[in-house]
Amino acid sequence: MRLSVIGCGYLGAVHAAAMASIGHDVVGIDVDERKIETLSKGEAPFFEPGLQEILTEGIESGRLRFTTDMAAASGSKVHFVGVGTPQQKDGYAADLTYVNAAIDGLLPYLSPGDIVAGKSTVPVGTAAELAPRVEATGATLVWNPEFLREGWAVKDTIDPDRLVVGVSSHFARSTTGAEATTGDGEVNPADVLREVYHPAVAKGTPFIVTDLATSELVKVAANAFLATKISFINAMAEIAEVTGADVTQLADALGHDERIGRRFLGAGIGFGGGCLPKDIRAFSARAEELGRGESVAFLREVDAINLRRRDRAVDLVVNAFGGSVFKKNVTVLGAAFKPHSDDIRDSPALDVAVRLHGLGAWVTITDPAALENAQRLHPQLNYVPDRDEAIRGADALILVTEWDEYRRELSPEHASTLATGRVVVDGRNGLDAAAWRAAGWTYYGMGRP
Ligand code: UGA
Repeated sequence: MRLSVIGCGYLGAVHAAAMASIGHDVVGIDVDERKIETLSKGEAPFFEPGLQEILTEGIESGRLRFTTDMAAASGSKVHFVGVGTPQQKDGYAADLTYVNAAIDGLLPYLSPGDIVAGKSTVPVGTAAELAPRVEATGATLVWNPEFLREGWAVKDTIDPDRLVVGVSSHFARSTTGAEATTGDGEVNPADVLREVYHPAVAKGTPFIVTDLATSELVKVAANAFLATKISFINAMAEIAEVTGADVTQLADALGHDERIGRRFLGAGIGFGGGCLPKDIRAFSARAEELGRGESVAFLREVDAINLRRRDRAVDLVVNAFGGSVFKKNVTVLGAAFKPHSDDIRDSPALDVAVRLHGLGAWVTITDPAALENAQRLHPQLNYVPDRDEAIRGADALILVTEWDEYRRELSPEHASTLATGRVVVDGRNGLDAAAWRAAGWTYYGMGRP
């Protein structure tokens, strides 16, 4: 099928390449000339396992191309819109400038029968507002939220755990699964999307057809739930800290209850990235606009707990030196918001590093993938790509992104040959506390005795 993908950021670039890899003929469109140039050469503009391979394969096969010219969308059957919806500069709500610009830019190139499939994370109600503009061209608007995780984006796009398609009400009524058309012979857009995602559909991936509002809500509700789960366990860490309990054992014990599950109960310096923080804020803002602010008031607490954990990690380092880190060499292990990513958007790791620098510590940061991005944002810090060089001479280490290089592959004995001091703060509860203590280190975890 001929597809266009408007917006070639994290979501769009992966989506375009993934759709080409399953046999579609895809054009990716973005206003950013540098990004298009990079992608056209088959180079991934960010670190994402597996992306490079499918980009090269797609371009070499001729099924994938990238351009800044919106006219290239003309002739595609489905137009995916995957532009960013960042937090507004002066508030918590989502900024829909790019979504509106993408839709307006696309309108002249739509033909009757085309499908515009929104993928961006938007406040509930956005699709219904956009629909009349799209429908005036004879095309149909559906919402098809994306649940990909960075680091697993290619797998999550080709083989997701569920597919959700929101359609306008007259299609929603007729879509029970088997029907391909509405009563009046019109093709149901959900069935076209079934064809687009044929490998996942063939293997029985749940395919949920719903109304526009539900599809928009599924996405923000999923991220709100994940953020709440993380902040729940971090709240338990705060209680553990005043009672001598161990939050990691608590999480293990809770996780054996299948209704709860162990995943996303990793206590530490909390969540960051381009999605969870901004999505829960945008959700609160939207709920307030709808007069239902109280329904998600708990998300403010989720946010507050999350931010307090960064303070806690900084305090652990400061207290380890009796109240001041002035002129102490602190090596920060990690900059990315999570491992297997070079993304530093709202990274708790980088935030902790910047705060320690602000308190007068001499901060050295290392990270296998995110250093270039981090350096661009915070040029005042010292960046050392080689892990061992970064540790050499350190008075204290703090683990803030649980890359295997630090969590599994760095033995305390080896660290002892490099560092000057023997203080280690485990901001992700990823280290073997007993082993570090046995090697002579003073170990501090998050929510652990
Ligand atoms: C998240 C969701 O997991 C995806 O389903 C969603 O599609 C995506 O946002 C999005 O909206 O685009 P992602 O931002 O890639 O994906 O990262 P996660 O794996 O969810 O991790 C988010 C943050 O939570 C990271 O900073 C991670 O370190 C932290 N985290 C995660 C914890 O602190 N504890 C945990 O137990 C798990």
